[in-house]
Amino acid sequence: MGFRKDFAWGAATSAYQIEGAAGEDGKGMHIWDVYTKEPGKVYEGHTGDVACDHYHRFREDVAIMKEMGLKAYRFSIDWSRVLPEGKGKPNEAGLAFYDHLVDALLEAGIEPYITLYHWELPYALYLKGGWMNEKIVEWFGAYAALVSERFSDRVTHFFTLNEPQCFVGLGFLNGEHAPGLKAPLRDTFQMAHNVLKAHGRAVQMLRLYARKPIEVGFAPTCTMCYPATDDPKDVEAARQQLFSMEDLGNWTWNVAWWSDPVLLGHYPEEGLQKYEAYLPKITDEDMKLISEPIDIYGQNIYNGKAVRMGEDGRPLVVGRYAGFPKTAIQWPVTPQCLYWGPKFLYERYGKPLYITENGMSAHDSVSLDGKVHDPSRIDFLARYLGELKRAAADGVDVRGYFQWSLMDNFEWACGYSERFGLVFVDFNTQERIWKDSAYWYREVIRQNGENLA
Ligand code: FCB
Repeated sequence: MGFRKDFAWGAATSAYQIEGAAGEDGKGMHIWDVYTKEPGKVYEGHTGDVACDHYHRFREDVAIMKEMGLKAYRFSIDWSRVLPEGKGKPNEAGLAFYDHLVDALLEAGIEPYITLYHWELPYALYLKGGWMNEKIVEWFGAYAALVSERFSDRVTHFFTLNEPQCFVGLGFLNGEHAPGLKAPLRDTFQMAHNVLKAHGRAVQMLRLYARKPIEVGFAPTCTMCYPATDDPKDVEAARQQLFSMEDLGNWTWNVAWWSDPVLLGHYPEEGLQKYEAYLPKITDEDMKLISEPIDIYGQNIYNGKAVRMGEDGRPLVVGRYAGFPKTAIQWPVTPQCLYWGPKFLYERYGKPLYITENGMSAHDSVSLDGKVHDPSRIDFLARYLGELKRAAADGVDVRGYFQWSLMDNFEWACGYSERFGLVFVDFNTQERIWKDSAYWYREVIRQNGENLA
């Protein structure tokens, strides 16, 4: 047994990374619109002002998805496109864009999966304190209500947050992402708590305003852990390591701090102790809101660390040998994480799982024959998907897989220098060219993964 018959074979994108049309049709500004204009922040000063121009070319892009046989497409709504001030009066033109996108997807037989927050914090709200201001719980809730009211007649699946680890950690702890701050530790824990409460409020509001039964979840990430060998001791070591607390300088890069509250209703004890000096006031009421029941659990999984049990009975991360396989962006190639990750997460949380992102960047270019050959991506995906298939066969309830990304796009601080797409984008002409991996993925989908080892 491999993938379920109705497995959601998909690809993912996010609003700022592909849409462009930064100043059009009444869109407000978000923190990335502002941050990318600051000198020295993004690779060669790139911005998402035009990106893949998807805002104007979405019909062409949906046609590509259809041709590729995608069953599902995960995209995000730019909060500031539909609520230019983050709250208050909605922008009809912005809503209309997503209306048309959803309709085009459904017409093409592709199931839309909406992410509410893939890092486009409206700048107007940022000026009011953003995630630091507790009012954001209600702001985000009202935004969720708007999205649900408007789209849940046609859309069934919603994810609230994409990778809180990244947008709190990279945005506010080490300052590599918008808004580029190095906030005091205390503030980052306060923000994280507000982020989780905002998630809970959004779950409530999505349901309250839903026009039909919907499925709601969130999409965190982590560096996965997998056992260095099959020895049960190493398996236990990997499990322990995965759910343990990171050191303070890196604390957001953590599974249990984000997922235990949502799915188990409490913060992990180890974290409450380790981070005690920096924590905000946490009430029972907060925890009730944060753990508002969800239906599905997303996880963005790119790579992992090998772990073994040390002599002292504590998990030990195993170093990588020289020349260890890696992708263009320097991330290690560790397919095992797509077996052990889903397995450990399903064991602990027991929720139907979606791999909401997985993929790799490569130095893709157009060859003399006019095609884009990306054997490394095919190899990568074959290895990773093979492991995911094994997890499914072992009883992990995995419902779908979203390859990151449908097409090359604006890779945050790396600008356009990293190409993650199945489809190559020529950023001079906006021409889309299928990479070899796109044809390969189409065949995997057609065979429901039967051709994977
Ligand atoms: C994830 C992000 C996504 C993209 C991929 C490569 O962390 O969610 O937007 O940047 O990495």
